[in-house]
Amino acid sequence: MNKMKIGVLISGGGTNLQAVIDSVKSGYIDAEIAVVISNRKGAYGLVRATENHIEALFVSAKECANVEAYNHKILNKLKIRNVQLVVLAGYMKILSNEFIDAYPNRIINIHPSLIPSFCGMGFYGLKVHQAAIDYGVKVSGATVHFVDKIADHGAVILQEAVEISDTDTAETLQQKVLKIEHKLLPQAIKFFCEGKLKVIENESNRMITKILDTPN
Ligand code: GRF
Repeated sequence: MNKMKIGVLISGGGTNLQAVIDSVKSGYIDAEIAVVISNRKGAYGLVRATENHIEALFVSAKECANVEAYNHKILNKLKIRNVQLVVLAGYMKILSNEFIDAYPNRIINIHPSLIPSFCGMGFYGLKVHQAAIDYGVKVSGATVHFVDKIADHGAVILQEAVEISDTDTAETLQQKVLKIEHKLLPQAIKFFCEGKLKVIENESNRMITKILDTPN
């Protein structure tokens, strides 16, 4: 049987991408990373992909007239490679409606907080962790979720918490959370590839993810 094809979008260092690459290599995830695409030329994640013999593309937004045209370009690159699952692993660009409609509940994002806390527009990178520390919460964590048309809003797949100590800074909290991210993201992808994720609407009209024991 053909393996599920994954496309990973990145903007930066790609430690989450590395966790996914390692999980595919070890056989934990039964899939193939068909392509890694970055909106930033110097993203180290592109080097990680190339070193692992995965096609790595830089797609510049500068050559596109608007957000829609840029997304259309990336979408085409995914489609011609028969990508079935899109993973946002630290991807800092907005997805267009056309893009999201092309992959309904087939785009997975990782966010470094316990959604619905410290998420949405403007919450990225160290800002997320600084906001958690400034608020004085005692736990934060990571969330893997499906992507819908509202930022950090789609059905939650997996979450795990970390404790925040009095001595934590945004930087130390980021490192603690990244450790969890590197576990949760591969796990969510594994479940997806095994057909174990089912998105349903609950009684509060909220889309939620059920994790099935046996494939759908
Ligand atoms: C991670 O914290 C992820 O949750 C967020 O962007 C960061 C990417 O880190 N969406 P890396 O590039 O995977 O190291």
